[in-house]
This record gives sequence, structure tokens and C-alpha cells, in this order.
Amino acid sequence: HRFLTEVQGDDKVTKEDAQGIINSSSILHRRGLHLDAFFKYLLSDANLPLSPVGVHRDMSAPLSHYFIYTGHNSYLTGNQLSSDCSDAPIIQALHKGVRVIELDIWPNSSKENVDVLHGGTFTSPVELIKCLKSINNHAFVASDYPVVITLEDHLTPDLQAKVAEMVNQTFREILFTPGSECLKEFPSPQSMKKRVIISTKPPKEYLEAKEIKEKENGSDRSKPLGDEEAWGKEVPDLEGSIRGDNKNGDDEDQSDEEDDSDGDLKSQQLVAPQYKHLIAIHAGKPKGGISEALKVDPDKVRRLSLSEEQLEKAAKTHGKEIVRFTQRNILRVYPKGIRVDSSNYNPLIGWMHGAQMVAFNMQGHGRSLWIMQGMFRANGGCGYVEKPDFLLKTGPNNEIFDPKVRLPVKKTLKVTVYMGEGWYQEFPHTYFDQYSPPDFYTRVGIAGVPADTMMTKTKTLEDNWVPAWNETFEFPLTVPELALLRVEVHEYDMSEKDDFGGQTCLPVWELRKGIRAIPLYNRKGEKFKHVRLLMRFDFV
Ligand SMILES: *[C@@H]1O[C@H](CO)[C@@H](O)[C@H](O)[C@H]1NC(C)=O
Ligand SMILES: *[C@@H]1O[C@H](CO)[C@@H](O)[C@H](O)[C@H]1NC(C)=O
Ligand SMILES: *[C@@H]1O[C@H](CO)[C@@H](O)[C@H](O)[C@H]1NC(C)=O
Repeated sequence: HRFLTEVQGDDKVTKEDAQGIINSSSILHRRGLHLDAFFKYLLSDANLPLSPVGVHRDMSAPLSHYFIYTGHNSYLTGNQLSSDCSDAPIIQALHKGVRVIELDIWPNSSKENVDVLHGGTFTSPVELIKCLKSINNHAFVASDYPVVITLEDHLTPDLQAKVAEMVNQTFREILFTPGSECLKEFPSPQSMKKRVIISTKPPKEYLEAKEIKEKENGSDRSKPLGDEEAWGKEVPDLEGSIRGDNKNGDDEDQSDEEDDSDGDLKSQQLVAPQYKHLIAIHAGKPKGGISEALKVDPDKVRRLSLSEEQLEKAAKTHGKEIVRFTQRNILRVYPKGIRVDSSNYNPLIGWMHGAQMVAFNMQGHGRSLWIMQGMFRANGGCGYVEKPDFLLKTGPNNEIFDPKVRLPVKKTLKVTVYMGEGWYQEFPHTYFDQYSPPDFYTRVGIAGVPADTMMTKTKTLEDNWVPAWNETFEFPLTVPELALLRVEVHEYDMSEKDDFGGQTCLPVWELRKGIRAIPLYNRKGEKFKHVRLLMRFDFV
């Protein structure tokens, strides 16, 4: 009981709870508390670093108040150019708690049906209806909170009408369709439990129906309606980067919301109103440059998409405006076009500017994805993490959080890496070194705002399957609300690349203090059965 209160910092624990642990951990056929049983308890699932209570944050704020677990090109099984399209990666993502699924929809080759594929590439298509059905069957396996489908629409109006029918037929009463033209404020995840929400660019020809009707007879079908080229004019650099993406062979996201390359065709015909009625989250089409794009309309909310490069550029000149925009509106960030290998980028730039949908290639792997997975271990893994207050509040004199300002240290996280175990059970015994036990070291550090981001490591312990490092590190944090603890174990090899021995990433603001068992995951983010570290956390 004293250990639980004094070391683990659990001030609500009772003597009965402590007795319960003793009873359940007497696995070794000996009664009472003894060293082996206590050690086993420390490394057990009963002693994890995050609280096991599940969803524990307020879920009744508008969607714009949350970071949302978001996929990019969710239908791709591999790279961005030649991999197969399938509903399998969509199902996998939903099972991991991903809440935003992106589908690029195109006419099939006979133009009678709708396929999902990565336009302009050699990816083989999957039928839209198959993807919708799989979303319907798997949406709420990992979380009850809403699933948003972002559509990248390359369709003709007759096929848009077909999509409306498919979506309506597939999701029926779980589909959220707002009564009014445009939402004044986003609904909350709580009110949207077990609902599906569609987000895309509303066909503007419907908005401008009257105008089009007038033009319909005898007009030139190839003549554009107007503002296609406006985006980026004010900031030539930004436009440059849009075109730059194009050159690199991936033009899909440019026709997402902001660019309107296929608008000419559609704009000449009146679209079926059913399609527009499906769209709950309007992807805005900004006219003008970045300042215009970030303008906040008090009467309606919308979603804006920026590539990682566009965000980086915009952050240099318009950091506070981006934060202000994301207080009510949704910002989606997507990987730049040259990431044809389905790699990802640093998600913190988006998060520190309040971007709710930092869209990732979930089929990829690597450190950025580990950080993404770490963020969404928070709040019971439900796919929605409340944004910190400072990103949502405006000060008494209308002050907005400025992501460029370096803040004073608010908290210091003290981390002790005691020891690790489980590799002997998990790996072939010659996996790390052919003739001797492995030489493990642990890298530990923080992914957060630039001032907090750092990595350090323990000594390498030679020839030991159960390394005991017993080293303590201190991480001063200026924004602990956005800090993720990164942990990686590697095995040192003198003559070749070090072997990988597991990783995890944990939201610092949800870390439980005290001595904890830290399960490690493989490169893809799948949990090892046996491998875990014993670590200690303290906040000073
Ligand atoms: C396109 O879809 C229609 C309707 O489902 C189907 O009959 C046709 O075979 C499809 N065309 C191709 C080339 O797949
Ligand atoms: C969906 O279907 C219902 C009837 O099944 C119909 O009343 C409704 O208008 C349809 N909605 C759309 C957006 O097509
Ligand atoms: C671990 O390190 C602490 C602090 O340096 C030291 O007091 C303690 O004896 C060490 N424990 C072991 C088992 O080596």
C-alpha cells in the first residue's frame, strides 16, 4: 500500500486494492508477498504506463477541438504508384482506431460505375461499393466515435448521383446529414457516436445552379466558371509548391479541395442535389492566397487541406492565423507528393498549429508513424484526443497562441530506464548475434514542439538477454501537453547496421508516474508478446 501511494502516486488506492494485488500475483505457489511475485507484478499488464480507464476526456466539444486519427489514401496496400487498391487496409486502419478514411473516387473504365484508385498511377482499382460496405461493417470495432470519410471526387454529375445513392443505401440511418446548407459549428464526437460523416468539396455547380442554368444552352463546355487559378496568387511561393507537387508525378491531392482541375467538366451540368446533401463537412475552396484561405467565417465552418510543404511555408508567415483558423475550422495536412514510398512526415508541425487531421499513410512504417500511433494511445485509443486548451482559447486581449514563441519550461519529466526482458522468448536465439547474447541499448527522448524535441540513449550492455541499464534522464518540457515520450531498443553491431529490438511512443500528459511496465512494439506498430521495459517516470 505504501509503494502504491508513495512511489506510484496513486492517492486513491485502498489497503484492499493492495491485498488484491498480493492475492492475484502469488503465481509461484507461495502465499503472500515475496520478491519474485512483486517483480512479476511490476512487469505485468496490471502495471501499464497509461491509465486503463479508456475514454476519459470530455467528448462533448465540437469536432474541431480534437486531434483525429486520420488516414491518407486509405485504400492503398503499398506504395503510392503501383500497389493494389483494396478495402483490406481500410479495415485494418479502422481496427486500429483510425477515424478518418480517405477515398479517391473515379469513373470506372466504361464510365458506368465508381472505382477507388490513385488517379494517374498504376494502382489497380477497387469498387467504391466494396469500400463503403467494409467501412460500414468495421467502423466501430475499435471505437464508438464517428468515422469521417473524406472523398476526393473526380466524378461526373451522373456518377455523383450514383455515389449519393450508394452512400445512402449503405449507411442509412447512421449517416449524418445536416439539415442546413452549411454547419455553423461542428457537432461533437459524443453526439456523433456510431455515425458516419461525409466530407468533400461541395459541387460548386450546385451552389451556382442558377447561373449554370442560364449558361446551359449553347455554352462552350470547356469554358471554366471562374476562380480556379486564384488559390496561391497572393503568395506565389505557395502556388509554386502546389505546382512542384505536380511535377513529382502525384497530382491527386491538388484536385482535392483547393485546386479544381476537373471542375470544368462538372461545372457545365447541374448536379443531383442528393450528392450535395450528403456532405456534412464542406471542404472549402479558398479564393486567393493563404490569408484568404485562413479567414474565419463566424457563420460557417469548413475544412481546409494543405500539403505538409504548404503548411511549413504557411507556418513561417501565418502561424497564429493557422491556430485561429483551427479553433473552429478543420485543417487537414497531407503528405507531399514525392512520398511515393508511402512514408510520412513530422506530425508535430500540424498538431502545434491545431491541425485536427494530420493525414498519414497508415500502411507505411517508420518513426513518424510511431509518433502518430503514440498520440492516439491517449484517451483510451478512441481516435479522438482533446487539443490542449492553449490552442483553443483566445486571451482577454484577443491573443492567440503563437507556435513560434519559445515558452519557459513548465515541467521536467524524469525517466529511469531500469531494465528490459522478453527478447529471449520472442526472437530466435541467433537473431541478434550469431555466437553470443545481444548487446542492447535504449534510445529515449521526446517528440514535441521544437524546444522539447530531443533524443538520448543508455550505454550498450554487452552479451545480455536481460539488460539492466539503470540510467536516469531528464527532459525539460515547455509544452508537456504536446510531448510524446519515444522509446526504442537497438542491438549494437560493430560491423553492420544495428538491429532493431522494439519501440513505443507514449503521450506524456497521460503517463502515470512511478515504476511501470512498458510493452514494446515492432516496426509496424504490432505489440510484441513478451518484450517490455521496466521504467520509472516522475514529474518535477
Ligand atoms: C464498370 O461498371 C459497370 C457497372 O457496374 C460494369 O458493368 C462494367 O463492367 C465496369 N467496367 C469495367 C471496365 O470494369
Ligand atoms: C436516402 O434515402 C431515403 C429513403 O431511403 C430518402 O428519403 C432520402 O432522401 C435519401 N437521401 C439522400 C441524400 O439521397
Ligand atoms: C541504480 O542507480 C541508482 C542511482 O545511480 C543507484 O543508487 C542504485 O544502486 C542502482 N541500482 C542498481 C541495481 O544498480
